[in-house]
Amino acid sequence: MRFKRSEFPEGFLFSAATSSYQIEGHGFGGAGKTHWDTFAATPGNVVRAEHGQRACDHYHRFEEDLDLARDLGLDAYRFSTSWARVMPEGRGNVNPEGLDFYDRLVDAMLERGLKPQATLYHWELPVALADLGGWRNPDLPNWFADFTEVIMGRIGDRVFSCAPINEPWCVGWLSHFMGHHAPGLRDIRATAHAMHHVLVAHGRAVQVMRGLGMKNLGAVCNFEYAQPVDNSAAAAEAAGLYDAYYNRFFLGGLFQGSYPEEMMVAFAPHMPQGWEDDFDLIQTPIDWLGLNYYTRKVIAPADGAWPAHAEVEGPLNKTQMGWEIYPEGLHHFLAWVHENYTKGLPLYVTENGMANADLLGREDTERMAYLDDHLDAAKSAIAQDVPLEGYTFWSLLDNYEWAFGYEKRFGLIHVDFDTLKRTPKASYHAIAKALSQ
Ligand code: FCB
Repeated sequence: MRFKRSEFPEGFLFSAATSSYQIEGHGFGGAGKTHWDTFAATPGNVVRAEHGQRACDHYHRFEEDLDLARDLGLDAYRFSTSWARVMPEGRGNVNPEGLDFYDRLVDAMLERGLKPQATLYHWELPVALADLGGWRNPDLPNWFADFTEVIMGRIGDRVFSCAPINEPWCVGWLSHFMGHHAPGLRDIRATAHAMHHVLVAHGRAVQVMRGLGMKNLGAVCNFEYAQPVDNSAAAAEAAGLYDAYYNRFFLGGLFQGSYPEEMMVAFAPHMPQGWEDDFDLIQTPIDWLGLNYYTRKVIAPADGAWPAHAEVEGPLNKTQMGWEIYPEGLHHFLAWVHENYTKGLPLYVTENGMANADLLGREDTERMAYLDDHLDAAKSAIAQDVPLEGYTFWSLLDNYEWAFGYEKRFGLIHVDFDTLKRTPKASYHAIAKALSQ
């Protein structure tokens, strides 16, 4: 790797991320079923109908995984808590085994000198709540607040930081408009409700955690650079709309108390009742913003209903996901978010990385180049006084990549999904060296 830890400011945090459904094994420890289990069991949704019942069996192997995180030289570890593991029906009954698991997990991080960076929800909605409309239901934020109280009542005294919800765009748009993630809906009203309720749930959870005396609370959003396909006004407008529903909607809610006008053109008739009154709650002050960044999209105008645009294939090198490699986008978002929204609040890159084919035993050069180029983008933002305080690799382990099943390998550590053997990749060893320098 080109980067060295010593090129980053004193105290800059390096971490790696995972999420509960993607690694734990939801068949273990009394966890309830999630909407990903039923989504995956429906033909056509997930490659080979793969699911997370066993995943990496992190539930039983977390000590070994955290040893590997420590030996990589990380300062922190970003993990998530599964609502269905803690409250199998989503409400009411608490699963003591689930609480014990997260208790042990957090202690195991602390024993290894890893700061626990928690996320409350990384997409594994309990099926009992999906039956009630899931994120479309205006009571969902209240149930989420109850879950927050239960889990953080147990581990909140020891986590370093917490963000309620990973990537509101995926919870809202990807899952309710595009139908690519659970619950697989394609409905504008469901989308408008989910996108708003997810922010209300964020606000409720932050308030609950403040009430518990917790500090260092944030939000984690994902960003994609929208590149117009050509110089036409129509292409600029199409890309602008993509930017609005992907990048500006949630930031608008969190930091400006409003949603982008071009979104409201289509969304206004579909918003939940009284939505305008929720912004005080949504804007409950937070201490930092996390940015997840992977790629850009090339956007062209298209015929058809709003948003009347299409993604077209771009010319840049691509990862195993088919995603273009565009580190300039990371620099753009760090500077742009700081100038226009967060204005001095600490920022973290909470996910960045690439999927590469199964290369066990070979060099992992593409991943190293990807990471170096994005770390350069982070460094140049810091040089321009963007208050970036940490960077998180996605992901520690190869894992369940949602609708793509187990084929797309984002890990710094290879996982053999038959034997569950862990093997650090060449990129892992290279990063360990860079972090020691
Ligand atoms: C992000 C998700 C994470 C993983 C990466 C590749 O959107 O937060 O779970 O799927 O993409």
